Amino acid sequence: MRRNRDGVWQKVLVPVMGLPLVLAFAPLTAQDEARGEGRSTECVACHGTRGVSENPMFPHLAGQNAPYLQIQLENFRDGTRYHPLMTPVAQSLTDQEIRELAEYFSNIGSLVRVGDASSAGSPE
Ligand code: HEC
Repeated sequence: MRRNRDGVWQKVLVPVMGLPLVLAFAPLTAQDEARGEGRSTECVACHGTRGVSENPMFPHLAGQNAPYLQIQLENFRDGTRYHPLMTPVAQSLTDQEIRELAEYFSNIGSLVRVGDASSAGSPE
């Protein structure tokens, strides 16, 4: 009887507990980036279309390094960094979504390329 119950738990719990580990080490694919794009529709209301912000209250996300974006989102989610508008958004994201969003916004390219290059200033 007891042995039987353990067997059931092993079948149910082991795969479930293993899942976050598998996700954490899964390399990002183009499909993940596409999923990041899907979730990004919630971000553009504040951060601008494709992460190019038109409001100085909201930082640009486009072209920022993926590891930086990921760390900031994790910081908002765990309370290390706080903002009344941004914290609740981050708290609704899973680890996987954070990685996908970070990848999506970083892959948009630098602001000079996506924004108006003539107003970005030239080195000369
Ligand atoms: C309701 C408005 C709002 C929405 C929606 C929103 N954000 Fe934010 N976000 C902010 C504000 C405001 C800040 C600046 C916080 C601060 O000053 O610390 C911010 C900051 C950030 C930062 C830190 C940027 C930096 O340069 O340090 C990241 C990353 C970020 N948001 C990602 C996202 C993502 C991804 C989404 C969509 C899932 C999203 N935000 C949706 C308002 C928003």
